[in-house]
Amino acid sequence: MTVPRLVKMKGRERITMVTAYDFTFARMLDEAGVDALLVGDSLGMVVQGRESTLPVTMDEIVYHTRAVARGTQYAHIVADMPFLSWQPSVERAIDNAGRLLSEGGAHAVKLEGGAEAAETIRRLVSCGIPVLGHVGLTPQSVHAMGGFRVQGKTREAAARLLDDAVAVAEAGAYGIVLEGIPTDLAGQITRAVPVPTIGIGAGPECDGQVLVCYDLLGLTPTLRPKFVKRYAELFTAGVEAARTYCDEVRAGVFPAEEHGFGEVKREGEESAPHNGTSNRTAGYGPTR
Ligand code: KIV
Repeated sequence: MTVPRLVKMKGRERITMVTAYDFTFARMLDEAGVDALLVGDSLGMVVQGRESTLPVTMDEIVYHTRAVARGTQYAHIVADMPFLSWQPSVERAIDNAGRLLSEGGAHAVKLEGGAEAAETIRRLVSCGIPVLGHVGLTPQSVHAMGGFRVQGKTREAAARLLDDAVAVAEAGAYGIVLEGIPTDLAGQITRAVPVPTIGIGAGPECDGQVLVCYDLLGLTPTLRPKFVKRYAELFTAGVEAARTYCDEVRAGVFPAEEHGFGEVKREGEESAPHNGTSNRTAGYGPTR
């Protein structure tokens, strides 16, 4: 999946994007045919257990992006620019965005901001770094917004957001994430910009949708935002599986004979095959 292909999908096919933070989740989502994986700074909350995305560092995003890239064959990979990783100067923005592509293996970066981010976007794009914009509820501005609140609810605020999205598209962004805005405003922005919009909490009129993988899979038991649909209940399934494991270990049911490696071979004996496979495929190391 490439940037030109994503752009061509606007108005034709809906784009699917899901966050991913590690090798195994990336493999799973890639195999499912998700078009784009976002190494979002939401990892600060769902992976690290922090209250916001603000403490996430460049090094952390690079680390997680590398792991995601190793697990991905099909999907387009976007890495988030963390809090204050681009605002201090355009040079800083280019260095940091460049790291996400060259060290992390991302295909593009995402940065939160409207008209004020346009010049930076223009410069990044001129360096060959594709940029995905992000307007509306921008979690890195949680304190300025007074919490995680739906944005663009008044006419003035909606007009500002529309201007922001147009500025971001005109600066060269190949797409824009619309987060936490009214459905009709998202539709209006989608019709006004020539690039795909990818919504989260922005209704069905966007060109694509993005969800946090932990939300989609039901791994966030205490959070049930209105805009999330859970397609599995993996937290509950995981608790049940781990509980059964504990019960079986305590009862001496696990490990059973078939989970062991037999007996020490005696002098002169052929070495015992492990179910006809090598040690590696018998359970040590990857079994792909
Ligand atoms: O960090 C993230 O996961 C995001 C999405 C919610 C769009 O920015």
